[in-house]
Amino acid sequence: MRLMEHPFGIDFGGTGIKGAPVDLAVGDFAEDRVRHPTPQPSTPEAVAAVFADLLSSFPASRSAVGVTVPGVVRRGVVGSAANIDDAWIGTDADAMLTERLQRSVHVVNDADAAGLAEAAYGAARGVTGLVIVTTLGTGIGSAMVHDGVLVPNAELGHLEIDGHDAETRAANSARKREELSWEEWGERLTRYYRTVEMLFSPEVFVIGGGVSKDAEHWLPHVHVRTPIVTATLLNRAGVVGAALLAAREQD
Ligand code: BGC
Repeated sequence: MRLMEHPFGIDFGGTGIKGAPVDLAVGDFAEDRVRHPTPQPSTPEAVAAVFADLLSSFPASRSAVGVTVPGVVRRGVVGSAANIDDAWIGTDADAMLTERLQRSVHVVNDADAAGLAEAAYGAARGVTGLVIVTTLGTGIGSAMVHDGVLVPNAELGHLEIDGHDAETRAANSARKREELSWEEWGERLTRYYRTVEMLFSPEVFVIGGGVSKDAEHWLPHVHVRTPIVTATLLNRAGVVGAALLAAREQD
């Protein structure tokens, strides 16, 4: 009997591109992941070349590839590019990358991939009702998962709050840029999550992104009614979710 090959996940972010084959039985990397810096400008051609380079580190892998993109994705076509090169907008990334990498490629919004992974293996596993997964990084990513089913492209990081695009005030990049204390950032997050809970009444917020590992510093300063839990897959969620999606698309 031939064992099914592990699908491959690639997480394309504003600063780094990470990839690994994923063991879907456990929701974790099957081999150590490889990371390359994101080329600047992050045009589709330049980024696709990095994907090819990254895949060449896994010569035995021939599987389908799931790729996260920090923008809206509908049927493989990228619809927005807040923190990557504008040339992605309108690109049929599924078709372009399938051709360039000579593998079946499926592109998904980065936060949607993380939300899928948290629902399948992590903090939102088995939760019924509406879960809102947010990632706090360069931007604010969001995924809405209802009874385990993803409602894609939520884009709640771009809610207009107090006249601002929310992620420009409350993302982790805003904390760093403005040198906010944990408490000051907590106030921004409180304003943000109160708005989201007023609009959607979720059962729980799952908060991911690199800064979720420092939650003891800022979480005590976030005051909302909805329970908040931190993501359990941390920075593996994008790669795992992308690979899961690629495998589902193959079925
Ligand atoms: C983008 C989203 C993305 C998020 C996190 C936002 O600026 O609009 O699509 O999920 O950043 O990368």
